[in-house]
Amino acid sequence: MKKKLVQLLQILLFLAKNYSSPQREDVQPALELSLKNFGLDYVDLYLMHWPLAMRKSEFLEPKKPDGTFDWVDIDDAEVWSEMEKIDPSKAKAIGVSNFNISRLERLISKARIIPAVNQVELHPYLPQWELLEFCKKSNIHVTAYSPLGSTNCPLLTDPTLIAIAKANQKSVAQVLISWAVQRGTSVLPKSVVPSRINANFNDFLLPAKDFESINEITTRNRYLKPEGYPDVFEDGL
Ligand SMILES: NC(=O)c1ccc[n+]([C@@H]2O[C@H](COP(=O)([O-])OP(=O)(O)OC[C@H]3O[C@@H](n4cnc5c(N)ncnc54)[C@H](OP(=O)(O)O)[C@@H]3O)[C@@H](O)[C@H]2O)c1
Repeated sequence: MKKKLVQLLQILLFLAKNYSSPQREDVQPALELSLKNFGLDYVDLYLMHWPLAMRKSEFLEPKKPDGTFDWVDIDDAEVWSEMEKIDPSKAKAIGVSNFNISRLERLISKARIIPAVNQVELHPYLPQWELLEFCKKSNIHVTAYSPLGSTNCPLLTDPTLIAIAKANQKSVAQVLISWAVQRGTSVLPKSVVPSRINANFNDFLLPAKDFESINEITTRNRYLKPEGYPDVFEDGL
């Protein structure tokens, strides 16, 4: 039952307890710990959560005396080479998250296994078409996180999206989820409200004109920019 429910487990290498740094030696033990904690034999997908690492510490997010996070330099490719060594019977696929094009290019140039997935923030205010195209060409599936704009769901009040939702007799959340699916991404809307969880599964085919109207939205914003983190996205947003 549990195995069926956990179809996709995103291992938070960066945040998982006792593993505040995704340095190469943490990759295997973090997976083992998560499998144990979830009572699973395997996961379908194991992700490198951020291309960042903090100093190993008893604290989840260790800080320096000046109060800033205690970052350490890592080579993404070195961490990835450990991901590549993972027993496929324990993680059916391996991938990355929060990687931009230049990081992916560097990683791919050294990788033996191309990441199966890149999980990034995607919605009409952050469509990242070039990244999507690059991943498509590189055979990397893209998953959209924070598809509603995360906390407070700022996209739910967008007038264009509201008009499209009304015209199709759907909710704005369903419009956003459908747009994400129509772009060829998988999508991770999060809700703790059962009725919303159910409703979020009801995506539909957006008429071409509505799909295009969403693509023409010019507002740009990135919502997941954890305070005190280096800018790994390098796009000025
Ligand atoms: N890889 C990464 O670095 C990363 C970073 C961030 C997130 N993620 C993943 O992406 C998932 C979603 O991201 P997120 O939580 O930041 O953003 P999100 O799914 O865009 O937004 C979540 C918010 O939307 C509300 N919501 C959900 N469905 C709704 C509906 N139908 N109508 C109205 N409000 C609705 C939720 O409130 P209620 O709960 O009250 O419904 C919650 O406040 C996370 O669970 C996580 O797995 C990954």
